[in-house]
Amino acid sequence: MVQKDWIGVSKWELDTPCLVIDEEILEENIRTMQGHAASFGKQLRPHVKTHKCSHIGKMQIEAGCTGLCVAKVSEAEALVKNGIRGTLITSPVVTGFKMERLMDCLQEDPELMVVIGDSANARDLDAAARKRGVKLSVLVDLDPGSGRTGVSFKDGLSLGRLIETLPSLRLCGVQCYAGQVQHIVSFDERYQASLHWMGQAAEVVRQFRQSGLPCHIFTGAGTGTYEIDCRIPELTDLQVGSYTLMDAEYLSIASSQNPTRFEKFPPALTLLTTVINTNHDHFVTVDAGLKALYHHGATPYVLHPPDSGFEYDWWGDEHGRIALSHRSKKPHIGEVLELVVSHCDPTVNLFDQLYFTRKGKVIGIWPVDLRGKCQ
Ligand SMILES: Cc1ncc(COP(=O)(O)O)c(C=O)c1O
Repeated sequence: MVQKDWIGVSKWELDTPCLVIDEEILEENIRTMQGHAASFGKQLRPHVKTHKCSHIGKMQIEAGCTGLCVAKVSEAEALVKNGIRGTLITSPVVTGFKMERLMDCLQEDPELMVVIGDSANARDLDAAARKRGVKLSVLVDLDPGSGRTGVSFKDGLSLGRLIETLPSLRLCGVQCYAGQVQHIVSFDERYQASLHWMGQAAEVVRQFRQSGLPCHIFTGAGTGTYEIDCRIPELTDLQVGSYTLMDAEYLSIASSQNPTRFEKFPPALTLLTTVINTNHDHFVTVDAGLKALYHHGATPYVLHPPDSGFEYDWWGDEHGRIALSHRSKKPHIGEVLELVVSHCDPTVNLFDQLYFTRKGKVIGIWPVDLRGKCQ
């Protein structure tokens, strides 16, 4: 098999389709979010589900975050293997086998945390930890009104009280992530919705504290609500994810400064795709379809060439269709186009590696080492 050393090569020469990270933009996005949180006296606990890359996780740790979040035990295993400690698992762990895997991780990383939204699950986790002679740090997962996971606001305190009685669990606080509000297009509507749900979670935090329950962590917030949720005094940290890479879905919602675009975090992640057929007047075919660009959220858009009038659409598993407008200069066969992806998290999960670039040249290749870790 032909091997090639891509370091130092122009990104336009890379084999496509491939994912490229502009390292300067990534660093700036990490700095901006870290600085914003700090200016409100909050910590960052960034979610790794976005980039699934321990190298980027380490960049976030170096920038000063308090720990990382993962969605699944298998992702936590990969971080533990990479020497990263103090990770929060933001989804419930409910089966016996997963609990065994969780306890293995806990033996490597005694600061590992998991959320709990159910009393039977709390008892099972307590029993699993006791069997291993370890203590598991936990947060009560509050349902933000979407019903996905977590206990209702009204039952949060009683779940906290139960956990406090279980000897092998260490109660640390609460999590409330209102995923359903993150992409509300209007900033004002998002503002109202987030304060409505997160305000109820803050009330549970106050109940914990008044009842003498430990609650030094109240984690939540996403990229869509980072500015809004910082206004909640009880919130201790933000578990934002997408701000690192960004995507068309997030870029098309309003921000506090702009009613049509969310410009605070430019796209660090792009996809390069090659034109492979130009035999038609009004469209060309590119080599990135469903297997390279996840089909959910907004439609990918063409970043390069700029102002091209090109519009991407999926065209089956392996191909995409680029519609040309009256002002478009038709691309030539073999030309490489650069796209902003629809939804960064599941798109990254389609690739083995990320090409890091500076000023358009490849400077590093990092594995998507949490790729496929969905258990
Ligand atoms: C529990 C949880 N926390 C944090 C995040 C990160 O949110 P965002 O990518 O909107 O910043 C997600 C994303 O889905 C999530 O599910």
